[in-house]
Amino acid sequence: MRRVHVFDHPLILHKVTILRDRRTGHKEFRELVEELAMLMAYEATRTHPVRQLEVETPLAVAKGYTIAGQELALVPILRAGLAMEAGISRLIPTAHVGHVGIFRDPATLQPHRYYAKLPQDIAERTALVLDPMLATGGSTVACVDILKAAGCRSIKVMAIISAPEGIQRVHDAHPDVEIFTAAVDDYLNDHGYIVPGLGDAGDRLYGTR
Ligand code: PRP
Ligand code: URA
Repeated sequence: MRRVHVFDHPLILHKVTILRDRRTGHKEFRELVEELAMLMAYEATRTHPVRQLEVETPLAVAKGYTIAGQELALVPILRAGLAMEAGISRLIPTAHVGHVGIFRDPATLQPHRYYAKLPQDIAERTALVLDPMLATGGSTVACVDILKAAGCRSIKVMAIISAPEGIQRVHDAHPDVEIFTAAVDDYLNDHGYIVPGLGDAGDRLYGTR
C-alpha cells in the first residue's frame, strides 16, 4: 500500500501556490483551502465503497451508484481543519463530522487536546483527519490516537502542506494510516514552522494576526 500520496494535479499545484503567497488575503485563503480540500477528497475517497441502485431517467431505468457517505466521518482538527471540512461537506453532505480540538504549545511544540466530539458510530466509519498543516506531526498523531481509542480502524490523513518530519512521525506512530498531501516541503524551522510553507494556517484563515 502506498502510504503517502502527493498530488501533482495542475489545479492543485496552482491553488497551493496562491495559498502560499503572503499577499493572499483571508477571504481568498479560506476559499482556496475549501477548494483544495474538495480536490484532494476526490482522490482520498477513490476506493470508498459504492452501492448499486436504479434511477429513473425521463426515458428509462438506469443503473446507478450511491456512495456510502453514511460510512464516512470528516474529522477536522480545530481550528484550521474547519475550512477543509467546509469544502468536503459540500461534496459529501451525508458524511458525519467529528470535531477534535488540539493546539500546539508554541514553546514546547507539544499537542494539547481541549475538545473531542466524535460520531457515536465512529468505529464503523472511515475517518478523514483534516488539517492544512502536518508539521511536527504531533497534532495529527494525537488526533489519530483519539480516533483509535474510540474504536476507529480505518483512518486517512489529509494535509495540504506537510513536512518530512511530520510524515515520518505519523508513519512511525500509525503505520496503517495513509497520508494525502498537496506538497511535501523542505524542513521545519526552529519554531516548528514548515519552510517554505505558508505561515500560520489558523491565523491566515481567520485573520487573528
Ligand atoms: C496548527 C495546524 C496544526 C498544527 C500542526 O495548529 O493547524 O493543527 O499547528 O503542527 P504539528 O504538526 O507540529 O502538531 P495550531 O496548534 O497553531 O492551532 P490553532 O490553529 O488552533 O491556533
Ligand atoms: N502550524 C501552522 O499553521 N503552520 C506551520 O508551518 C506549522 C504549524
